[in-house]
This record gives sequence, C-alpha cells and structure tokens, in this order.
Amino acid sequence: MAKTLQYLVWGLAALATRASAAPHCPAPASSSTSQAPSATSQVPTNTPTPSDTPSGPRTFEAEDAILSGTRVESTLSGYTGTGYVGGFDEPSDKITFKVDSATTRLYDLSIRVAAIYGEKRTTVILNNGAASEVYFPAGDSFVDISAGQVLLNQGDNTIDIVNNWGWYLIDSITLTPSAPRPAHQIHPSPVNPAADANARALYDYLRSIYGKKILSGQQELSWANWIAQQTGKTPALVSVDLMDYSPSRVERGTRGTAVEEAIQHHERGGIVSVLWHWNAPVGLYDTEERRWWSGFYTDATDFDVERALADTTNANYTLLIRDIDAIAVQLKRLEDAGVPVLFRPLHEAEGAWFWWGAKGPEPAKKLWGILYDRLVNHHRINNLLWVWNSILPEWYPGDDTVDILSADVYTQGNGPMSTQYNQLIELGNDRKMIAATEVGAAPLPDLLQAYETHWLWFAVWGDTFINNAQWNSIETLRTIYTSDYVLTLDEIQGWRGQ
Ligand SMILES: *[C@@H]1O[C@H](CO)[C@@H](O)[C@H](O)[C@H]1NC(C)=O
Repeated sequence: MAKTLQYLVWGLAALATRASAAPHCPAPASSSTSQAPSATSQVPTNTPTPSDTPSGPRTFEAEDAILSGTRVESTLSGYTGTGYVGGFDEPSDKITFKVDSATTRLYDLSIRVAAIYGEKRTTVILNNGAASEVYFPAGDSFVDISAGQVLLNQGDNTIDIVNNWGWYLIDSITLTPSAPRPAHQIHPSPVNPAADANARALYDYLRSIYGKKILSGQQELSWANWIAQQTGKTPALVSVDLMDYSPSRVERGTRGTAVEEAIQHHERGGIVSVLWHWNAPVGLYDTEERRWWSGFYTDATDFDVERALADTTNANYTLLIRDIDAIAVQLKRLEDAGVPVLFRPLHEAEGAWFWWGAKGPEPAKKLWGILYDRLVNHHRINNLLWVWNSILPEWYPGDDTVDILSADVYTQGNGPMSTQYNQLIELGNDRKMIAATEVGAAPLPDLLQAYETHWLWFAVWGDTFINNAQWNSIETLRTIYTSDYVLTLDEIQGWRGQ
C-alpha cells in the first residue's frame, strides 16, 4: 500500500512534467526531491535530562505532542519515552511540537524516525509558515535524521511534521543550537589551469563576495528585463539555455538565440550562466505525448547513455561527441566575445528525469568527464567555470573538474534552502563555492543571513515561477531586489577590476 502511494506521487510528478507545453525544468512536484540526509552520526541521540542547559540539545517526544490524524503506538521497540507516533496516511495528518527558545536563534533539527515501509519524505513546517522537505532512508529501526535548521523566535514556536509521503514512525525531534558557520576555505583558482583572464577575473570576483553577499539572477534575458520593470533593479546574473543548439533540434528547425542574449547581458556589465537542456542526439519518440522538443526528458527518448558510453567506436558515442562539438562552437563565440561563463551542463542528473541521469551516477560522471576533456583539452575553450548540479555524493565527478557546486530547489515560501546548502558544504568540504542555480522562489535576504546560507547566487526560473505570486509576489521581489545583501546589475559594475 505504501508502495502504491509512492508510485502515485511519482506518477503525478511525471504527469506534471509531461503536461507542460514548453520545455523547462521539472515541475515543482518532481524537482524538490533531490535531498539526502547529511551525516547522521553527529546527531545527538540522547533524551533530555534535568541538567540540559538551553545551549545543549533538547529532545521533544512525539507522543507528548499534539496529534492530528495520527496516533501513539509502541509495537516497534527502540523508541524513547513512552512510545512513538504513526498513522500518517492522509495528506493532513501531522504532529505539532510546541517548542520554546530563550532568544531568536538558529537550531539544528533532527528527527528520530523509523521508515519501515521504505524510503519516505515528510514536510516540516515552522510556525505555520516556511516548509521544507526531509528525506527518510528506509530502515527497520529508529534512527536520527538531520532535518536541517530552524530559526526559532524568542518565546513559543511550533514545528509540524506533516504527512507528505506518509507511512513512517516518528519517535521524537531534537533541537540543538547551531554553531556559527566556520570560515569558508575556497580554492584560490579555477580547476582549469589554462583558464583565461576573463574566467579568472570572474572567479576572483566571486570569491571576494562569497559569504558576504548574494548575486541576484534570473533565467532568460527577457525575464531579467521584466524584473527591472517590476522592481527598478536588474538582476546581476542572467542564465541562458543552449537547448536550441542541440543538433537533434537544429535538424528540426530550431535556431538558438542564447549566445546573443548572453553577450547583451555581458555588455551591460552582467554575469552570464549557461545551462544546456541537451536534446538526445537520436532515439526521440516524437509522439503526440512525447514530442521531439522534450527530447532531454528520459521519458521522451530511448537513447541509452550507458550503452552509448560503453564503447567509443559505436555510432551513438560518435553522436555524443558531435553534439559536444556543436556546443563548443557556441561556447567559442562567447569566449571570443570576452564573456566568462558559469557553465552548468548535465544539470539535475541525480533526478533521473533527464536522459543523462537515467542510468545512474556512473554514466553521468563519465559523460561529465568527456565533456570537460573535449571542451577544455581538445577545443581549448578556457572561458568556462564548471558548475556541478547534483547533491548526492555518489554522483559527484570529483574536485578536479568542478569549480562551483549547486542545487536546483523548487520549494515555495522564499526560504533560505539551508538543507541543500549544508549538504553541498559537506559535498565539497567547504572548498567550493555554492550556488542556487535554479529556484522556484527567490530567497529572502533576512533569512539567508540568519541561516548563514551563503548561496553565491540565486536564479529564478522563468515563466510560471518568476511571474507567479504563489512563488514570488511582486512585493517580495521588491524586498529582495532592493536589499543591501542582494547584488544587482548596477551594484556589480566594474566587477572585473575589483
Ligand atoms: C543508438 O541509439 C538509438 C536510440 O536509442 C538505438 O536505437 C540504437 O540501437 C543505438 N545504436 C547503438 C549502436 O547502440
């Protein structure tokens, strides 16, 4: 039954993705799922004792909390207190913990849970506002799972654990005052030893602001200009998509304009980021439901990346190289125009909804290595800073070919996305800068600073996200774009010389 529910969720996510008319990144239902627990070994597993001071961990038992649609149980051994809470089977089922804090401050939150019916996801809601999603790995006993951080107000607060996938058992939550973030230890130079002066200047500038400010960013030049009309401020960074230069699209009549748009933004003093919805080179179904222009989605092609990479002499390997060479032409145009590029190919690989991630981490990492080698060593393209875009450690291609770590996060509420940020700190041992390369909701600067989530930039996706009040109200955008903490185009002028 639990499995059925789970498949229903994935089915809906897949439907939402397919139903969208224009190609874009996954719909919110499917895109906020790439979270993993961070190391659980540091999480305290103790129960409260009278000697606990406010500066130590405090545990709150689920069976003592307010239950809605859930119930106290005690069949599975290993719980603390007098039992645990189960019965999460309806969307509104939840536990409400009342927690207090002597001051307004940040806490690490952990949840003691048994996901005995398989891996699950829950929603954590703080003070009836900010929501975050937490992943529970499957297991037959209670374990402590890191659930990120919560900013508690002075006085009374509530933390809700709400169904989401449901079918897990909650024993307790523990709150520990967060330690201040230690200083970052960022690599002094780009990974490509031959990186050109433009790429180096950009890297140096990014290092100079990392941890101090965030660059505002937007997907698509047209939406960046729309923000200027709404807020009076233009994003510092614009992200463009090489999608329409993919040979299997060009064959069908597309004509990319991303390079021209990138150059325009560069010429007005902005910073450029480039992603690539790589249409599969061959094997597009091109049916009514799965059209050729959605050919970057796993479910729109039978192109098998693992098979293609298994043998460098086969026709499909050759097609991958053909495609990379076509993209090299466009990147070269940017290099020749003096544009340094934050390059983010193979994005969201770990989500598996794009063909480059469909066969697991090994082919994705291999393809990343081929891309890097082909562009840097064969084509000698040296204006790129390499942005990796998966969180899970088993997907990471390694420090040698990655300049910047990143995540795409689609969660409403304009929150700081601290869970993902902290996971990426662990992934790169705090030696790589970290960016929020795609978000549904732009993060509020006050929360970014309170949580010390030092995203280097954020870039909001275009249509149906930036222009959708459920994700970003105009008022919120104005607050963000006029904040001292947020760098806009006018404020980064002359960044090369800084
Ligand atoms: C190349 O990929 C296409 C599309 O998936 C497939 O039909 C074909 O068999 C593949 N060729 C080889 C040599 O693997």
